[in-house]
Amino acid sequence: MHRPSLAVLALAPLTVLALAPLARAQDAGETIFKRYCAVCHSVEPGQNKIGPSLAGVVGRKAGSVADYSYTEANKNSGLTWTEAELDKYLTDPRQVVPGTKMLFAGLKNADDRKAVIAYLKQQK
Ligand code: HEC
Repeated sequence: MHRPSLAVLALAPLTVLALAPLARAQDAGETIFKRYCAVCHSVEPGQNKIGPSLAGVVGRKAGSVADYSYTEANKNSGLTWTEAELDKYLTDPRQVVPGTKMLFAGLKNADDRKAVIAYLKQQK
């Protein structure tokens, strides 16, 4: 008679627990992106809307989408969109890049910023 090993039975729920928070953060990030960013941004490479494509934005230099017409303020900000820099920027875009044409008041909730940055990180 075959019985599933006790070890497998004991570990299975732990695996589910370990994966759940990540999955939740990504879902939340996608929801936030759709609600707050998608009117102006796409995550498809090369697809600019009112704002530049955000495909691969995490880790890239500010103002580096070649065929997008940035403000001088954004283009010359000298910033690199690390997770930490994005967190500051998304809190209050016009404070980090004075003169930006990104007309967005900011995401004031730290968990929302974290979730949307985690989502952007997946969009290569
Ligand atoms: C009302 C339209 C609008 C909304 C909403 C908006 N953005 Fe933007 N975003 C822009 C524009 C326009 C720019 C270009 C800014 C410039 O050139 O000054 C921009 C620039 C950016 C940049 C810099 C990109 C680069 O290549 O340097 C990032 C990052 C960014 N937005 C992220 C977001 C995220 C994340 C959200 C949602 C939380 C969001 N934006 C919401 C319009 C918007």
